[in-house]
Parts: sequence; C-alpha cells; structure tokens
Amino acid sequence: MRFPENFLWGTATAAYQVEGAVEEDGRGPSIWDTFSHTPGKVRHGDTGDIACDHYHRLEEDLDLMADLGLQMYRFSVAWPRIQPEGRGPTEQKGLDFYRRLVDGLRQRSIQPMLTFYHWDLPQALEDRGGWASRETSERFAEYVGVVYEALSDEVGYWITLNEPWVSAWMGYGLGTHAPGRQGSDTALAATHHLLLGHGLAMERMRSAGDDNQLGVTLNLHPAHPSRDTRDDNDAARRTDGQANRLYLDPLFRGEYPEDILSFYAERGVDLSFVREGDLQKISVPIDFLGVNYYFRHLIREAPEEPLSQVPFSDLGARPIVPHEGEKTAMGWPVDPEGLMEMLVRIKDEYADVPIYVTENGCAVDDYIDPEGGVDDEERISYLDSHFRAAHEAIERGVDLRGYMVWSFLDNFEWAEGYSKRFGIVFVEYGTQRRVPKASARWYAGVIRRNGLE
Ligand code: FCB
Repeated sequence: MRFPENFLWGTATAAYQVEGAVEEDGRGPSIWDTFSHTPGKVRHGDTGDIACDHYHRLEEDLDLMADLGLQMYRFSVAWPRIQPEGRGPTEQKGLDFYRRLVDGLRQRSIQPMLTFYHWDLPQALEDRGGWASRETSERFAEYVGVVYEALSDEVGYWITLNEPWVSAWMGYGLGTHAPGRQGSDTALAATHHLLLGHGLAMERMRSAGDDNQLGVTLNLHPAHPSRDTRDDNDAARRTDGQANRLYLDPLFRGEYPEDILSFYAERGVDLSFVREGDLQKISVPIDFLGVNYYFRHLIREAPEEPLSQVPFSDLGARPIVPHEGEKTAMGWPVDPEGLMEMLVRIKDEYADVPIYVTENGCAVDDYIDPEGGVDDEERISYLDSHFRAAHEAIERGVDLRGYMVWSFLDNFEWAEGYSKRFGIVFVEYGTQRRVPKASARWYAGVIRRNGLE
C-alpha cells in the first residue's frame, strides 16, 4: 500500500507540552502556567515547568527526528516567549530559540510546520478578557506578524490555530482546560474571537506576497446517534453543529450554522460579538486544512444542563462510549473509519482543499520492559489502521498531503499531566532519557517505504 509521491510523514508536538524552561530567556507566564499551578486542575498537580526539557535538549531531539527519518515536524511557538505580555516589545531570545529549531530541522532536511497558537495564551491577555474579548484577536494578529517576519524565509507551512473547539469549549465553556472559565456564552465568544484572530492573521501573512502555505487546524469528530431515534438523531446533529460545523461553515462558507446560532439565541445567549464584515475576514481562502482526528462521537439525547465537565450537556446531548470495542489509555474508542469519513466529508461538503492530518495517535500504558525497550504494539496497530483509513480517503479522491503522528515524545497531556503517554519516543521523566518505542522503529519503516506492507 503506497502513498502518493511527495507525501510528507512527520510527528507533532506543542510548546507547553514539551519545552519546559518556563522562566527562561524572558518568557512570560501563560494561562497554562497559571492553570497547572492551581491545585486540583491537573492530575497529580503536574505542570509544564520542566516537561520534556526540550528547550535545553533541542539538538538531541533533532538528531532523534533525523534518525527516525521524519520528513516534517509540526511544533508550536509559545506566544509568551515572543511577547511576554502578549503585546508590545518582542523578546529576541524567544525568536532565537525558534530560529535554532527551524535551522536545525532544515539542516536535517525536515520540513518545519509551525503552529502559532497551541493554547498557551499570555496570562496578561487573559487578565484583559482573554479570548472572550475581541482585543485578543487583534493582539494575535500582531504576534503572528512578528513571528512571520522573523521566520517566513525558512518555514513553508503555517497554522494559525490548533483546535479552536478545544480552546473555546474546554477552556471557556467546560473549564477543564486553561483558563478554566465556564459557560456557553463565553465559549461562543471565544470561538468567534479565535476565528477572527485566524482571519486577521491570514491577512497579515498574505500581505507578504510569498508562496508559503497557510492554514488552520481543526479537531473534527463525526457525531452519530447512539440509537436510531428521533431524539438521538437530533442530539447528534446538534453535537455535529457545535463540534464541527461551527468551525467548518465560517471558514469555508463565511457563515455560522443557522441551527446552532438559533439554538443558543433562543436560550438567551447574546451573539452581538459577531460584527459586520467579520465572517468575510474569517473565510479568506486557506491553502490547506489541518485535521486532528482521534475518534467519533456516539451521541445520546440527555437533559439540557449548563456546561460542566461533560461536553455538549448544554445541547442536551451526551457522548456514549460503549463497553465493547477497543479503547486507548485515554478511554477513547479506536475508530479509524471515522478518519476516512471526515476526510471525505470535507471534500464532498466543503472544499477540495489540500489536507494534512496534523495530529493522530493514541495513549498507551507504556513502560520500559526488563530488556530496556518499550513494546507498544497497541500503538503500531492503532497507527496502521488509521494510515489505512487515510489511504482509503486518498483513493476516494481526497487531496491528503501528509500525516503527523501525535506525538514525537511523551509529554504533558494537559489536564491529564504526565499520566498519559502519546509519544512514539518514551520519555523517562526523572532522567529525561529518550527511548524510541517499537512504534518509532516501525514508523521509520513506513516512512522509508512511503507505505504499509
Ligand atoms: C489534541 C491536542 C494535543 C494533544 C492531543 C492528545 O487535542 O491538540 O495537544 O494533547 O489532543
């Protein structure tokens, strides 16, 4: 099973999850520093203070990427390293770090793919309202301008946002992620201001007039009814509306899904943060869409409740995970078909746009065995089945250009702290020793063959 010529195989990480060195070289605090240091927010009280110490182990990590034959590496820039206060003066030492990273990748013939926002908002901006405030969209575009100017000669692939649904709904709706605010109204305002920030950032980058590839990454989950009843069908449709269409529709059609807007308007949410002209800005053409895929939602109708812990409760919907069926260490169902379904849907319903899978992978309860290796056969089987699903999407005409496995290293898994391991490389946190897992060796073979046996 071969993939198209020029297909790019890589891995992904995010700044706060791997870098550590949170007080170094002028970096300011982000909402994740505040959140992880607040008791009770992150499992075991883990924080990203040290994480994988990637900031200090850059060369070693780059060598490891080259060893595995990676062709692309998706990473994110920590906004608070560039603008410690979220606006105003630029911290040159922060830019220098990413310059070293990008140079190091290119010396090893690895394509850099840069994400501007993977959830580490400068705390100073949260103090002024965060993503619930329109000002943050403008600050974001400024920050993007600074980084773009510094690195646009060396980076060919640019992603404005990572998973705006998660930023908005887990950060400002459920409160399970930083900054920990709750309410459908703040989550909707955050959604709009994130998307507006994307649009304004696109405008900035486009004005440079180069031929870099610009896009945005969404986490997309097909949502199906758990039973074939009218109520479950309606609940699944609403879930799809909030999880997927609330992002795809404005980006590709310049409009918000009417059913979702009226659902919230009927419940008294004030949507006046959407201003004249915003949707035009949000829908400027992108060069590619990044898709993060983990699983499908199976939805059951449930009583409508204010958001807390359980996603979609404000929609009168509840995700069900059936007892039978394989699950990852996150408890997420293993569901490769959903990836194919989503990729084909984007092409059929939205646009025949180039797509990169910018994240896919699974958590496994990995450990170093007595022989000194990490035998993660569950991960190999997970990746194998998802690569096959991606291949099928290509056969059905989807313009899929590359695939980034989440993740390169085990890392700080947000509210789960270090308890969940997603890497193809094991990190022994106490010593920071890196041990490539069986899946890393296997993936190196996939890359060499550009396909599966
Ligand atoms: C995604 C995030 C990424 C990682 C994976 C497991 O939602 O973008 O940072 O935590 O989930």
